[in-house]
Amino acid sequence: MKVISGSSSHMLSSALAKQLDSPIVRTENKRFPDGEKYVRILEPLDDEEVILVSNTYPDEMIVETLLLCDAIEEFNYRKLTLVIPYFGYARQDKKFNDGEPISARALVRAVEVYPDLVLTVDIHTDSIIDWFETSEARNVCGANDMARKLKEIGVDFVVSPDEGRMKTAEKVGKSVGVPSDYLVKERIDGNTVKVEPKSIAVAGKRVAIIDDIISTGGTIVTAASELKKHGASQVIAACTHGLFASNAIDRLSKCCDMIISSDTIENNKTAFSVAPAIAKEIA
Ligand code: R5P
Repeated sequence: MKVISGSSSHMLSSALAKQLDSPIVRTENKRFPDGEKYVRILEPLDDEEVILVSNTYPDEMIVETLLLCDAIEEFNYRKLTLVIPYFGYARQDKKFNDGEPISARALVRAVEVYPDLVLTVDIHTDSIIDWFETSEARNVCGANDMARKLKEIGVDFVVSPDEGRMKTAEKVGKSVGVPSDYLVKERIDGNTVKVEPKSIAVAGKRVAIIDDIISTGGTIVTAASELKKHGASQVIAACTHGLFASNAIDRLSKCCDMIISSDTIENNKTAFSVAPAIAKEIA
């Protein structure tokens, strides 16, 4: 088995290679003068089971992922598993207005051409997996990896900012060994969310708010304020995919005592790896 890393997944690929006790294949990655990408695989892959770890975010990674898949296709490999740690465009999983694309489905159709197996991690909507037709696809749950980190940090309570993530909060809470609950969120627009007032027993507690994605930080900022109103002594914001768009970190830092994300998107808040969960699915 050999691991190939897309240029935005070096941290996760190394952690995964270690978990799988497999080498990382050397690649070349540069741009042509006009800005187009160039990739090259520098070691043979014949008869190998290949694990390619590559995001579909940001946009340029869609192209790089496809180019790497195509380069792999030129070898007589045994099996290609494409791990997409952060499946970009998953939040446009339906048409909100006439004339819009179903962006998540468009991405599925683009990437499924090459791999035998696609693994996503905490994909925004589970049902996106059902759109894969030509390759097998499964979503990997990063809850245990997040829980391991929260246990190390020490939290007393786990909360999801909306009912949709309640099951994940339950799973993380159970794994940490603390209670969990959820808030009721209403999204007003891309930048604004409202959290319904709700009685929640967090007074004097170190509370982790967990979400799949932090983008603008609007969801977590609103939820953290609500938890502090209920007397939470500390709020820890934890997510799988830390997009941290525009000034999200500044906004989050004002109301959260700690911000952590996984290595699906590498950034300076990356505090835990989802490699163990992915390795378990591959092994
Ligand atoms: C929404 O359903 C997701 O689970 C996240 O809560 C959302 O994408 C976070 O976005 P933002 O950080 O911009 O509020």
